[in-house]
Amino acid sequence: MGLEGLYQEIILDHYKNPRNRGPIENPDIDIFESNPLCGDEIHLQAKLDGQKLTDVRFEGKGCSISIASASMMTEVIRGHSHEHAHKFIDGVRAMMHGEEKMSNEELGDMEALKGVADFPARVKCALLAWTTLEKALNDKLSGGKKVT
Ligand code: FES
Repeated sequence: MGLEGLYQEIILDHYKNPRNRGPIENPDIDIFESNPLCGDEIHLQAKLDGQKLTDVRFEGKGCSISIASASMMTEVIRGHSHEHAHKFIDGVRAMMHGEEKMSNEELGDMEALKGVADFPARVKCALLAWTTLEKALNDKLSGGKKVT
């Protein structure tokens, strides 16, 4: 299997078996966003302990790229700090512009989304979960209130 085929497999696996799907009871972060280009939606929830995202889960409807990206995101940020999450938000955004801010090792499964940079119409799909997380964290840090 070539690299492209392997990437397809990873994306499809996350799409068909999304990690960390489902609601969180009494979430500290609870946010809905949609992709303005297609109307597809993500509902992202998280539990916080100080700076740490102790649990991160999502539900949503969307294309394989948006769901796979959300699934991968929950895997890499769950149990980590805001700072770690922002590093990934920046890294994934850069990747969608063809830049390399993070090593393949750091990216893990996210590396499979690199090819999306060649399809500008799909970049918003891959970034939906990440921009939603960024908005939630920024709102949380600036307001200290529950994001709804
Ligand atoms: Fe809607 Fe990808 S086509 S999120």
